[in-house]
Amino acid sequence: MQAKEEEMGEIDRPNMRNYGRQLFICNHGDCAPAEEAERLNRLVLERNRQQQLNKLRNPHRIKCTLADCLGVCQGGPILVVYPDGIWYHGVDEEAMERIYREHLIGGRPVEAFIFHRQFPAGQEPAYAPDMRGDDPLTPIPWAPLETEAESEEEEEVDGRVEETAAELRRMAARRGRKKKGLVIVNTGEGKGKTTAALGVMTRAWGRRMKIGVIQFLKNENARFGEILAAERMGDIEWISSGDGWTWTSDDMDETVARARHAWSVCQERIVSSEYDLLILDEFTYLLHYGWVDGNEALAWLEANKPRMLHLVITGRYAPRNLIDFADLVTEMREVKHPFAGQGIRAQAGIEY
Ligand code: FES
Repeated sequence: MQAKEEEMGEIDRPNMRNYGRQLFICNHGDCAPAEEAERLNRLVLERNRQQQLNKLRNPHRIKCTLADCLGVCQGGPILVVYPDGIWYHGVDEEAMERIYREHLIGGRPVEAFIFHRQFPAGQEPAYAPDMRGDDPLTPIPWAPLETEAESEEEEEVDGRVEETAAELRRMAARRGRKKKGLVIVNTGEGKGKTTAALGVMTRAWGRRMKIGVIQFLKNENARFGEILAAERMGDIEWISSGDGWTWTSDDMDETVARARHAWSVCQERIVSSEYDLLILDEFTYLLHYGWVDGNEALAWLEANKPRMLHLVITGRYAPRNLIDFADLVTEMREVKHPFAGQGIRAQAGIEY
């Protein structure tokens, strides 16, 4: 063997720079939406830059990698810290800030998010990783590095870190091709169009997605149960721009003007890229009555809707071009109604 090495001459050995910790964040998409992992990755890169923990010369530097499925597949985003063997679950941005500050720099894992702390030792479910991360950790003896003499090389390193991050984002996007923000339409004469949309809202809220609800026709002063619920849930932006229903409106010009204004507000929200889910409640009426040109609106959506933004559109009379444009269309059909059949009026908490 030695003879063979001598024969081959000097071997060009790989030269790896030391680093302190490496994070792996699952972006497979089943434990949590892949975009959440991407957001966390960006947050860590940003904190690394601020703390100069991205510098190749810094032996304490922190690497962050978007990994495929880490085998937990629920309660994500899932994050593992190497070499500590600490598995975190439910890592939102606030949790990530704490993990960065308390664990990665301070050496104190954030108990509240440690996956294994949910189960006594030996009673973990079958999918739980073997490592419990119970061993004491060494905090980073951290002090910002001197940068001036190193600035040229460091800039280059920053560039490489950026390139790597960009490549990871591209890889995530390629992997995520199977996923896209859906356009969902709930239409038809029956009840339940808005209710079904609010079911999606609740689900998305549970996944910590950023949600906006724009009500095009309902009165802006209304206090429907769903508005009260959204207020209590928090983190849901609720915009009502209507002056009432079209068939009760005293002033159609005002109804139309308000609805058009709501569409322009909606367009702003869509291009802001700040949302994971937007619900456009009663939007179909704007297209049906021609208050907004349907072809123009759909062409605008085609050109401007962020790829991963989910839109739920409700209302009767969904026009053909909207149905063609949507990914999922459900038509509500009335089979029986308490008022029509028995004269029972709408009741708070059930119908509104
Ligand atoms: S999908 Fe995230 S851990 Fe499996």
